[in-house]
Amino acid sequence: MESRTQKSEPARRRFIGRALGLVLATGVTLSAIPLVRSLLPSRSRQIAGAPIEVDLDTISPGEQILITWRGKPIWILRRTSEMIQRLRISDLEARLRDPLSQQDQQPPYARNDLRSIHPDILVVIATCTHLGCIPKFHPETGQMGFDSEWPGGYFCPCHASKFDLAGRVFKGVPAPLNLVIPPHRFTDHNTVIIGEGPVVE
Ligand code: FES
Repeated sequence: MESRTQKSEPARRRFIGRALGLVLATGVTLSAIPLVRSLLPSRSRQIAGAPIEVDLDTISPGEQILITWRGKPIWILRRTSEMIQRLRISDLEARLRDPLSQQDQQPPYARNDLRSIHPDILVVIATCTHLGCIPKFHPETGQMGFDSEWPGGYFCPCHASKFDLAGRVFKGVPAPLNLVIPPHRFTDHNTVIIGEGPVVE
């Protein structure tokens, strides 16, 4: 006849095994929580600078919208073909300080005469490079109070700096540099993501 001690030994082993399994399972579960959390961007990081997707469907040719990214105002302008032609007139280039975007005011993929990925869509930070005012959008052309041969663009009312419809600064104004082009990429022609560059395949 088995003693009481001999009878309880297998039961005791089963108990220890179950308890150990429970501890291990709980430990794995608990240690997984911070890992998952660390993979998700925190709300503060999202607010601080996560990329944002913008639908451009509602912008008609010649119009622009104003959005905010990283606390900065961003214009997205849908240029007409006439606006694009005007930007390529050499007479205009002669009036500009940095017509070919030599200064580091844009990502490499926007270092071209239109300072954009697609000719018709301009994405630009709406902050004057003089002292940070927000310039005004003046797409009209011709005689203006601030320019007798205005080609269309942005006029800063604070100290009269002028930029064309590619955000290129004019000569002889206080602003020293072109407006800044933020990183951006398109997922299709009517959807842009601000805060990320094009995916390199
Ligand atoms: S802040 Fe725009 S011209 Fe001075």
